[in-house]
Amino acid sequence: MKRDSFGSRLGILAAAAGSAIGLGNIWKFPFITGQNGGAAFILVYLFCIALIGLPVMVSEFVLGRKTQSNAAGAFKAIEPEKPWYLSGYIAIGTAFIILSYYAMIAGWIFSYLGRSITGELITIAPEQLGDYFGGVIGSNIEPMFCTFLVIAFTAFMVLSGVKDGIEKYSKILMPVLLVILVGLMIRSVTLDGASKGLEFLFKPDFSKLTTKGVLEALGHAFYSLSLGMGIILTYGSYINKKENILKLAFQVTIADTCIALMAGTVIFPAVFAYGLEPNAGPGLIFITLPAVFREMPFGAVFETLFFLLVGIAALTSTISLLEVVVAFVTEQFNLTRKKATLLLAVVIYLVSIPSVLSFGAWSGITMFGGKTFFDVFDYTASNILLPLGGLFVCIFVGWVWGTENAVKEITSNGLFAFKYKGLYDLIIKIVAPAAITVIFLNANGWLSKLVPEGQMGTVMFTGFGAIVFIGMIVLNRRNRMKKADF
Ligand code: PHE
Repeated sequence: MKRDSFGSRLGILAAAAGSAIGLGNIWKFPFITGQNGGAAFILVYLFCIALIGLPVMVSEFVLGRKTQSNAAGAFKAIEPEKPWYLSGYIAIGTAFIILSYYAMIAGWIFSYLGRSITGELITIAPEQLGDYFGGVIGSNIEPMFCTFLVIAFTAFMVLSGVKDGIEKYSKILMPVLLVILVGLMIRSVTLDGASKGLEFLFKPDFSKLTTKGVLEALGHAFYSLSLGMGIILTYGSYINKKENILKLAFQVTIADTCIALMAGTVIFPAVFAYGLEPNAGPGLIFITLPAVFREMPFGAVFETLFFLLVGIAALTSTISLLEVVVAFVTEQFNLTRKKATLLLAVVIYLVSIPSVLSFGAWSGITMFGGKTFFDVFDYTASNILLPLGGLFVCIFVGWVWGTENAVKEITSNGLFAFKYKGLYDLIIKIVAPAAITVIFLNANGWLSKLVPEGQMGTVMFTGFGAIVFIGMIVLNRRNRMKKADF
């Protein structure tokens, strides 16, 4: 069976940026920025994206392109003897689980979009918005229906293949997203009192930064760039050898980061202009923003546009989550794309139901110390599987396949220049694995058990410095020894 591939450079960019740009940028990035005090957190985030996110993205792209295979097949193609393909299974499993509840949250967005279009949302009094949100997501049938819509629509776009489905729809949806975002941004920054919001976003106050914030920034950098789940790897396998991967990864990273910052610029100036608090957490766009739109002239129109924007961003991400699993199932079990997509859509919908009901009928069913089904899925995927997936990619590319081979693929065998080979080597072999290990320990609460209270910042800073330093020495020696072999 001939493998499908992307048709144009712009198409690749739209699809990969579409995957990266999602709820993570427009929902999560603003609310964690709000909770972590604003600009200082953003600076750390930018640093994590540039130093760790970008090199890991490049690695995933080349691993896919080199092997022209799905997330599990890629590992097998390079190391057929050892069970490295299991890390591909982890990645695919993570995408599967995340899709089940990502589609639910996207479903909430579509509920809100519907309620904006009918004009109901704008009539809700600010003090009732919290209960209103709880009512919508806890109403069982409506969220189940909206999750179904999201999965059905995603399956429809994936069904037609990489070029005629994913690429085609991404090329339509991404420009629409950009236009709406720019429009909303202009509205927000021209409100009276918007400057306080801009200050919150762009004027760093480092006293507000915590160790927890730093780790959250790093974790979010991975999530936002869609790393550690075999997505970028799978998309890489649809790219031809003459494409400049470095440039592509750079463009996707810049687009993802700009959109997150733009989303912040839509939300915070408006929140501050109407005297609301920026630290509402996950309810920021569902509870705080509707209160903002209520006060704004033509608020109902902007509200509808806003939820449409978030809905589009979510859909281009669900496409990529489904594609990872579809690519694997079609190739592994020799199914047609159509059969695989329909089958998986049904299974994913069934798996999403316990998460949906966790906010309604099944909210009383808890396990592992009070976790609902949704909490368990989210915890397992975000805190355990996602970091593991990222860690395995780095170790595999850095130590098993070898950065020298990766660099050959990055440069398309010398066709393109790559100046920062040494830095890339250091990051993929040492810095990124160390950083991911720390996120992993922290996310599971183990770090605070290992390090005495109040010492976390110092321990992390010195520990990290030491790892980088020792890493540099070790890699330098290895390289010198290798050169001496010739
Ligand atoms: N990167 C997406 C976002 O920012 C989320 C996502 C993660 C999508 C992993 C696909 C895979 O929302």
